[in-house]
Amino acid sequence: GNKVSVGLLGLGVVGSGVIKLIENHQEKLVHQLGCDVQVKSVLVRDLEKQRDVNTDRTFLTTNPDDVLNDPEIDVIVEVMGGIDEARQHILKAFSAKKHVVTANKDLVALHGQELQKAASQNKCDFYYEASVAGGIPILRGITEGLSSDRIQQVMGIVNGTTNYILTKMDNDGMSYEDALKEAQELGFAEADPTADVEGLDAARKMAILGRLAFSTDVDLEDVEVSGIKNISLEDLQHGNKLGYTMKLIGNANFSNKQLEVDVQPTLLSKEHPLSDVKNEYNAVYVYGEAVGETMFYGPGAGSLPTATAIVSDVVAAIKNMLLGVTGNQLVEPHFNKQLKTPAE
Ligand code: NAP
Ligand code: HSE
Repeated sequence: GNKVSVGLLGLGVVGSGVIKLIENHQEKLVHQLGCDVQVKSVLVRDLEKQRDVNTDRTFLTTNPDDVLNDPEIDVIVEVMGGIDEARQHILKAFSAKKHVVTANKDLVALHGQELQKAASQNKCDFYYEASVAGGIPILRGITEGLSSDRIQQVMGIVNGTTNYILTKMDNDGMSYEDALKEAQELGFAEADPTADVEGLDAARKMAILGRLAFSTDVDLEDVEVSGIKNISLEDLQHGNKLGYTMKLIGNANFSNKQLEVDVQPTLLSKEHPLSDVKNEYNAVYVYGEAVGETMFYGPGAGSLPTATAIVSDVVAAIKNMLLGVTGNQLVEPHFNKQLKTPAE
C-alpha cells in the first residue's frame, strides 16, 4: 500500500520526539520509502495528561492490545521503558509478525538475546539504535561500518545525565543536586535517575556495545561499575588544577582472549579527545585492528536526537519489509563466552 502504520508504546520525552520527527520529516521518509509513514495508535498510562505534541490524527489508548493486535500496524516502537511489561509487549508483537524498534537499554541489556531470537524465529526485525548514545548511530557504526574489522577496544561517555552533571559542576560550580535537577527537567535522566548516577545505565549500554563489538554475550553482572554520586566539587577542582577532567568512562577491552567491561569515574588529561565532550553529549571511541582510532560524537539523550535513531530504525525495518527480507544489522551474536580472537 502507500502507507505504513506504526504503533507506539509510550508518549513521553522520546515518544513525543518520534511523533514530531515523523510528521516534520514526512517528505524525506516518502522520498526514501515511496510511501507515507503514519503513527496510528499510542499506548499511554494517562489519557487525560497534557501532551506537547499534536495527536489529532493518532489514537491514544491504555489497552496494549489496541496497538499490538491491530493488523494494520507493521512496526511497533517501544518507548515506555521498564522491563517486564515492555518485554511481554515486544514478544507479543513478534508473535503477531510485527517489527520492533526500542530505545530501552535496560531491557536489551538484560533480555536482548531472548528478544533477538524471538525476532529471528518470526522473521521480524529487532532494532535498538537509540538504546546506546541517543542520536549517535554507533550500533550501525559498529555492526555495519566496521563489520570488516576486528575491534579491540570500545571506550566512551555513554550517559548524558552524568556528563551533564559533571560538566555543570566543573564549569559553572553548580551543585550536584541542582545539576541533576536540570538534567531531569531537560528530559535526559531516566524516570528514576538512580541508574544514571550510579553508573548502571552506562553499564547497560557498555554491555550492549561489548556484545555487538565482540560478538559475544556480556553479562551485566560481569561489568564492574561505580557511579558519580560521591564525586565532590573539590575533587573536580583539584583535578582541574592538575590539568585533568573527571568523566564517567565505560571501557570494553579485549586482550589476552578476555573481554573486560567496566564503568568508572576517570580523570582524563585535557589533551584526551573525550575530555572535551560536554553536557548531555556522548562520544564513543572505537579502536579497530585495521582502521585504528575512530570516534563517534553527538547528543546522547534528549527528545529529537533520540527520535532520529528510532525513526531511522523504523525506516530500516520498512525498507526490509518492502524488499521482503529480514535485516541483518544486528547479526545474531555468537553468545559464546569462549572467545578466541575478536569476532572470529
Ligand atoms: P518518559 O518521558 O517517562 O515516557 C514514558 C512514556 O511511557 C509515557 O508516555 C508513559 O505514559 C508511558 N508508559 C510508561 N509505562 C507505561 C505503562 N505501564 N503502560 C502504558 N504506558 C506507559 O520516558 P522517556 O524519557 O521518553 O524514555 C522512554 C524510553 O527511552 C526508556 O526506555 C528510556 O531509557 C529510553 N531512552 C530515553 C532517552 C531520553 O533522552 N529521555 C534517550 C534514549 C533512550 P504517560 O505519558 O501516560 O505517563
Ligand atoms: N538517561 C540516559 C542518559 C538517556 O542520560 O544518557 C539516554 O539513554
